[in-house]
Formats: sequence, structure tokens, C-alpha cells
Amino acid sequence: MYFKEARLQNFRNYTEEKVEFHPKVNIITGNNAQGKTNLLEALYMMSLGKSFRTLKDNEMIRFDTPMARISTISYKEDAEIELEIILEEGHKTVRIDGVKVLKNADMLENVYIVVFSPEDLKIVKEEPEKRRKFINRELCQIKPVYYKTLARYKRILLQRNTLLKQDNINPDMLSVWNDELADSGARIILERAAFIKKLDRISKDIHHQITDGSEKLEIIYESDIPVMSDLPSQKKEFSMKLDSRYRNDIFRRTTMTGPHRDDLRISANGIDIRSFGSQGQQRTAALSLKLAEIRLIKEETGETPILLLDDVLSELDFSRQKFLISSLGDVQLFITTTEISDFVKGTLSENAVFIIENGRIIRGE
Ligand SMILES: Nc1ncnc2c1ncn2[C@@H]1O[C@H](COP(=O)(O)OP(=O)(O)O)[C@@H](O)[C@H]1O
Ligand SMILES: [Mg+2]
Repeated sequence: MYFKEARLQNFRNYTEEKVEFHPKVNIITGNNAQGKTNLLEALYMMSLGKSFRTLKDNEMIRFDTPMARISTISYKEDAEIELEIILEEGHKTVRIDGVKVLKNADMLENVYIVVFSPEDLKIVKEEPEKRRKFINRELCQIKPVYYKTLARYKRILLQRNTLLKQDNINPDMLSVWNDELADSGARIILERAAFIKKLDRISKDIHHQITDGSEKLEIIYESDIPVMSDLPSQKKEFSMKLDSRYRNDIFRRTTMTGPHRDDLRISANGIDIRSFGSQGQQRTAALSLKLAEIRLIKEETGETPILLLDDVLSELDFSRQKFLISSLGDVQLFITTTEISDFVKGTLSENAVFIIENGRIIRGE
């Protein structure tokens, strides 16, 4: 799949720009703070209806204007899809081929996007929340039903936590929320565990190649609830855990157990590299994970995702850069950089260059 064109209106520092893309490589260059990442952000919005760098949609509306609009034309299996997102203060409208979608989840499966920024290079060493976000983002793209389940889980969790903050807790209410939480939570655990198993298989293979066979990568889903093989028993495990910990939850006034606290264990040759890996090891593992994501989306959906590389090439050493570029195959690539290196010029010769200057997009040579 690929983006053919995009139009941005009052999105971030863009006023009104229309741009046609190259089906393979798009090099986006320009000085700092000109709008390079903003352009990638606009494209990314078309995958999940959300930004990869802010939770606040309002931030993306151009200062002193009431609404932002992004529209794109993309291709999926030779079929043209027109997507449109309008952001207004506290309100979002999504249209696919001119038809308004009722739920955010209904916009998924039109474009699959993998984004890789310097932030992602830190995914191995940072706090568990970042790794959960990574899993959620990917699973939401591949499985729209996961998106809905996750939203339900978060809603119930919030309600349960609100109840736990009260001075007199109604036990019947608590039991209702426990049951609901166990149901959606069990679904999340099962989906995540299956996803991580696949990711482990693929990233192990990639990591083996990057490290010339010297490191065996292992990724394991870490949960304080044992992972089961079917929904009824998974739900039972989670329910039992909630029951056995309820005093603790009441004392802490929040839910201390469940998939909202899970993590990924990432190890190389048996050593937990979240805490004990060198920075180089952690970054290489992050690269393996990202590349595995691309392959996993292909396996699961039959579609080649679009890759956004935001300022990340210059963060990698030369051999990692080479590995990354050579393993991409037919992925449509968007790459931002303040300076186009000889390496990029040489290996990505079939390309289009765009120069970004203060919210204007100029087609370069
Ligand atoms: N809502 C907004 N309205 C207008 N300008 C914005 C908005 N959000 C961010 N900007 C501007 O966008 C610029 C940063 O763009 P960005 O794409 O991150 O730069 P870079 O080219 O370094 O990737 C900054 O100048 C910032 O002030
Ligand atoms: Mg940037």
C-alpha cells in the first residue's frame, strides 16, 4: 500500500498544502522546526486516527484557527481510498470515500503505518508504559476488535478505580466491575500473548541477522496473571487475581493487577537487557522490534505497511542504517532528515525529495 497524495489545511504549522508522493521513497528535508515531523504526523493520523506524539487532538489544529483538515489518497491492493480527518476543538470527524464513519475503530484497516523515531530507540530501556503503548498501537492496527476491547477495558478500569476511591464501597458494585474487567482484560491478555509470541519469532530472526548470529533475542509477555489458552480460563484467572487482591486494591484505592500493568521482558542471550543491556544492545533490539513489526503486519494482513522514519537514520551507526534500508523491500518510505547523506542519496536513488520551509512543501531535486 502507499500514499499517492495528501492535503493539509490548518494542520500544525501548515496553512494549505497539497503534495504528491513517490510510491517508493520520499525524502523530507529542511531545517529544524519547519514542519517535517508534522507532515509525518498528518500521514500517521490516517492509520489510527491518532497522533504518534500527542494524546491531544487539539494541539494539531493550527494556532488561532478553528479547525484542521487532513485528506489523503492512498492505494490498497490497487483500490484507491480517500481518507479525510477534520479536527475541531474537542471533536473529530472521519470520512472514508466521502462517507462519515460513526466509530473511530471503523477507520482502521485502510492504511497500515509503522513509525520509527528516536523515541522508539529507547523503547527497551524506558518504563513499561512505553512498551504497552507499542503493543497497543500495533494490535489496534492489525485487529480492530482489539481497539474496541481496549477502549472497553479502559472505561471499566476507570469506573472500578472511581469506586475504589469512595469511602464506603458497595460490594455488589465492585463485583459487577470485577466481572466486566475480567472479561475485557482476559481478551486483551490473550491477544497480547499471541501477538508477542509472533513478534518474538520474527524479531529473533531479524536480530540474529543484525548481530551476525552473536545474540539470541527473546521477547516474553510479562503479566502477573498466568496466560491461559482459552477465554473462559483466562477470565477465571483474572477474576481470581482480582478477588485475592481486593483488600490491597481498596487500601491503595486503585486496581493493582491487570493488563494495564503488564510489560515485555526483552533479553539477549538470556540477559534482561531492559536493565542490564548496553545502550547499543538496547537500540539494536529496538531496531529488530521495529522491523519485526513490518513483517508481522504483512503476515497478518497481507498488506505491506508504510514506514515513517523520523530523524532516526542519523541515530544509527552505518551498518545498522544499511541493514535497515536493505531489509525494506517494497515498503513505501517517508524519511525525514535535516541533511541528505551520501548514503541515503546512493541507496535510495529512486526517490522524490521535498524541502520543508516554515510550513511550505517545495518539491526538490
Ligand atoms: N498547532 C500548531 N499551530 C501552528 N504551529 C505549530 C502547531 N504545532 C506545532 N507548530 C509548529 O511546528 C513547528 C515544528 O514542526 P516539526 O514538524 O516538529 O519540525 P521539524 O521540521 O523539526 O520536524 C514548530 O515551529 C511549532 O511551533
Ligand atoms: Mg522533527
